[in-house]
Amino acid sequence: MIVCQTIEALRLERAKIVGAVGFVPTMGYLHEGHLELVRRAAAENDAVVVSIFVNPTQFGPNEDFSAYPRDLERDLAMLSAFPELIVFTPSAEAMYPQDFQTYVQVERLSQGLEGERRPGHFRGVATVVAKLFNIVQPQRAYFGQKDAQQLAVIRQMVRDLAFPIAIVGVPTVRAADGLALSSRNSYLTPEERAAAPVLYRALCAARARYEAGERDAEALRATMRAVLEAEPLAQVDYVSVAEAETLRECEGTLSGAVLLSMAVRIGRARLIDNLTLGTDRHFC
Ligand code: PAJ
Repeated sequence: MIVCQTIEALRLERAKIVGAVGFVPTMGYLHEGHLELVRRAAAENDAVVVSIFVNPTQFGPNEDFSAYPRDLERDLAMLSAFPELIVFTPSAEAMYPQDFQTYVQVERLSQGLEGERRPGHFRGVATVVAKLFNIVQPQRAYFGQKDAQQLAVIRQMVRDLAFPIAIVGVPTVRAADGLALSSRNSYLTPEERAAAPVLYRALCAARARYEAGERDAEALRATMRAVLEAEPLAQVDYVSVAEAETLRECEGTLSGAVLLSMAVRIGRARLIDNLTLGTDRHFC
């Protein structure tokens, strides 16, 4: 494992690689979900680059940028088992020098869902990922379905700006009780952690109704809301039934693939989760 702290050092190491590079961008505080992305990247490429950078531009002024969990030593220990791995840990000054003034905005896909509740979030994500792509120059890049809108935004950016990179979507890794793994789960107290699988239960309840033949968008939203509202520690931010391709909210009778998604506050944590229906493959 090689750790590069500067753009120059990463470029030097990158130039030595013969063959395909798989890239896994992360904000660190790694868990099994991240490791699954790294495993996929390792299986499909000759070398893997993992970036660890808590990107300030994707956090709103009232969000958890300073509280976001960080533990580089632990992250490096978790990654040390992988051969042919380069870990890129740039500074904020390197990624955003004083006179930085160029941003990437994926317009329509960034508007609804998370983008609506977190203005500027996907502008920050697209900008940092575009910069990381230019530094790492991977053949393939790996993103989790857990952040379905992020995956869709990155796919769109890569198409629109002709990045020569294949985007690989990886299914959500869950704890045994269904909770999607997330660095933000570390905010939960034991009592809140016990309540948190309610997100997945709500998604599964809506999927069960869909599989039983329900095709009314509002009925599925109501099903998710009812399950979430039965949990006193859960505060619903939104529940959504959207077209899987465009992420536009569905009204009336559903047709084609749909994305069920939600954001829910439990204690200090704002948790998101999703499921895709009406397709054999994951929306990726
Ligand atoms: P982060 O939240 O650290 O996630 C890094 C990658 O891991 C993302 O592609 C995310 O979707 C994926 N991931 C997180 N939890 C997962 C799970 N339970 N199962 C599968 N994949 C999971 O997403 C970001 O960082 C940032 O926005 C980033 C893309 C690095 C840009 O700053």
